[in-house]
Amino acid sequence: MIPNRGTMRQNRNSSPLKIARNLSALRGAVDGYRGNGETVALVPTMGALHEGHLSLIRLAKRRADRVVVSIFVNPTQFAPNEDLASYPRTFKADAAKLVAEGVDLIWNPNEAVMYPPGFATRVSIEGPATAGLEDRFRPHFFGGVATVVCKLFTQVTPDLAIFGEKDYQQLKVVTQMAHDLDLRVRVIGAPTKRERDGLAMSSRNVYLDAEQRRTATTIYRAMTECAERLRNGGRVPAATKAGATALAKAGFEVDYFEARHAETLAPISSVNAGPIRLLVAARIGTTRLIDNMKV
Ligand code: PAJ
Repeated sequence: MIPNRGTMRQNRNSSPLKIARNLSALRGAVDGYRGNGETVALVPTMGALHEGHLSLIRLAKRRADRVVVSIFVNPTQFAPNEDLASYPRTFKADAAKLVAEGVDLIWNPNEAVMYPPGFATRVSIEGPATAGLEDRFRPHFFGGVATVVCKLFTQVTPDLAIFGEKDYQQLKVVTQMAHDLDLRVRVIGAPTKRERDGLAMSSRNVYLDAEQRRTATTIYRAMTECAERLRNGGRVPAATKAGATALAKAGFEVDYFEARHAETLAPISSVNAGPIRLLVAARIGTTRLIDNMKV
């Protein structure tokens, strides 16, 4: 059985995995690494770990001496009507995966540690956070993400932090925030891990029934087709509209299917105007999926 606190032996590494649940335990561990002159990478997560998360952890291990994985289902990034209560919480299975990956430390604060009574600060971000993509449908989201990630950065003080391109706008928001607030952390983006049929791995895929799971592959196919059309000189409005129509025909409610400038997220008219990223959000049943692709 996996113990719920304390330390666990790792498979491929002699140092035990530590679990910190309060700031003094976290700081003690990180100070120890620093005292040895070791570099620290942070991989922030909300748990329910899958191969996508593990790919970030493997990248972190290649880039730093020590890897800290935070597991915290952050209530401030969920709206009241969203899936905070039902969000999958699988700590024991997560910890077993992290032992196998040779992670050094799990930072697993509870809500009272992260947001003590009287907590009154919120990081407010514009630029990529107001691009009119996720922010249009989840107005509370990036304020919650920026606040918790800012706290994670100041708590863990990592040299680098790895985020998935899967959440492309989030990656841009966190990069902007770290830059604007002079945080001493290098934010690194990692490619999206997909299932064999192209569906981007996500903790929320467990909500899909068998039929929805089959339908979900349409997102990858529609983005691939749209990207090809744009590369072959197709016009942005026609190509993205065709993508949205393909998703709607498959049974999705499409929040957006857009081509944006890959760096600024500003609307873009053609491949000649800069690098393009396709960004998609669509709902099937009660599940909302997001994905994106380089053109
Ligand atoms: P979560 O959804 O658990 O994702 C944690 C990290 O894993 C994010 O950087 C996300 O982009 C990355 N990720 C998720 N699916 C991936 C995939 N298929 N391939 C590659 N990377 C993937 O994103 C969050 O948590 C939260 O918003 C958080 C940043 C932890 C703040 O609460």
